[in-house]
Amino acid sequence: MKRLAPYVYFVVCCGLALSQTKTDRKSLREKVITFPELTTSSWVKLHPNESMDLSAATVCLRFYTDQLTTSCLFSLATPSHPQDFSLSADSKHYMMYIHSAPIPFKGLSLKINQWNSVCATWDATSGLAQMFVNEAASIRKMVGPKVSFKGAPVITLGQYQTLYDGGFQQSSIFTGFISDVHVHKEVLTARQIKTYIEAKIKYKLGDYINWHNLKYTIAGSAQVEEKQHVTYAKDEPI
Ligand SMILES: *[C@@H]1O[C@H](CO)[C@@H](O)[C@H](O)[C@H]1NC(C)=O
Repeated sequence: MKRLAPYVYFVVCCGLALSQTKTDRKSLREKVITFPELTTSSWVKLHPNESMDLSAATVCLRFYTDQLTTSCLFSLATPSHPQDFSLSADSKHYMMYIHSAPIPFKGLSLKINQWNSVCATWDATSGLAQMFVNEAASIRKMVGPKVSFKGAPVITLGQYQTLYDGGFQQSSIFTGFISDVHVHKEVLTARQIKTYIEAKIKYKLGDYINWHNLKYTIAGSAQVEEKQHVTYAKDEPI
């Protein structure tokens, strides 16, 4: 009986783990990920095909929330930095982190119970960051050491990573919907970003993370749902 105990424990643990997390590769076109609870046990990880060696990047996504407190939309950790490229928002400003250095962007809109479209760019040559939110472009700000993104990243949606492949910060959990996440290996032009923000049919899909061909792991109460089932079409970006 004594010898059986560890085995039983193992089966119970793995059974629980399997029922709670699921890895898949599919197109999430016209889909959203719903984050219904303020809990660190609900999360989504995105798995790129390759490790990072990028001197520039653009992250674009759309989110929909009623949360006014800080919420982390996108968190990319590498072995060198838990916030190598991350985005969070609250009612007053957007925050971008490059190589774990934070930079705030003020005066950009956060519409409650409507889709918000966000793109953030950074390039190691100039060290300049810029954000585009709905109809406005931010100014360009210097942030982070001018070095490339390197290593195998851990990318999460809706949770702020406190360590590389470690825990999540309770105070930064996102609730709402996230959709159309694309990561590009370059700084997109303002025109390319405008096409994405206006949700035109032929916007450029990510060549590092592509929402239309995505490998992801989903855990807890986070779930994939049809965009048209959970939000009205009239609330789409113009
Ligand atoms: C990742 O690899 C898959 C399978 O080979 C491919 O279909 C997909 O387009 C790749 N994703 C990106 C972003 O290049």
